[in-house]
Amino acid sequence: MLKPVIMDHPLIQHKLTIMRDKNTGTKEFRELVGEIGMLMCYEATRDLPLKEVEIETPVAVAKTKVISGRKLAFVPILRAGLGMVDGVMRMVPAAKIGHIGMYRDPETHMPVEYYCKLPSDIGERDVIVLDPMLATGGSAIDAIAQIKSKGAKSVRFMCIIAAPEGLAALQEAHPDVQIYIGAVDEKLNEHKYIVPGLGDAGDRIFGTK
Ligand code: PRP
Ligand code: URA
Repeated sequence: MLKPVIMDHPLIQHKLTIMRDKNTGTKEFRELVGEIGMLMCYEATRDLPLKEVEIETPVAVAKTKVISGRKLAFVPILRAGLGMVDGVMRMVPAAKIGHIGMYRDPETHMPVEYYCKLPSDIGERDVIVLDPMLATGGSAIDAIAQIKSKGAKSVRFMCIIAAPEGLAALQEAHPDVQIYIGAVDEKLNEHKYIVPGLGDAGDRIFGTK
């Protein structure tokens, strides 16, 4: 089982505090999700392999480095994961994007899949699944199972806030998946919302409700 990486960089923690505030409006919230996505992507891609190339600067020939090896695909879990796409694409503009649609049944809190479209070469890519919230873990577990069933061999998961319950469930279901988290909160409440959390991420990003 891979140890989760908690990204407690001061910029992430500061932005997350503003996101948590119930008085933060949709525009600012959406911008912050994108910015945190960008900062987390910067850290999560720290181990990408490099190869040496030779280029000519205006002054001399330089031996220098470029990213090599497998290419990336980002897969946001709809809807809230979409908020992180803009930020990660700023870091890796050549990455491909897949989409997986899941919603939690309001009564049972179980995930329901309603859409899946992945790059055709998903098996040859390192996949980073995006969702700001990991609550019970059901949505992430099912989304990753679906992505693996389509051929993905290397999958990572990036979320902004996790509940301890969801983190444990995801680690148990997918021990091979490296998980990146902005903060691990206290618990889930009786409605399976993260406490203290930030409320419903999808509604806050898109201004619904
Ligand atoms: C939220 C969130 C996750 C899921 C987390 O989505 O974005 O996908 O809940 O909960 P879980 O870990 O208990 O499965 P939601 O179902 O509210 O859909 P939305 O993004 O379309 O609003
Ligand atoms: N989904 C959210 O958006 N927020 C939570 O706290 C739990 C699930």
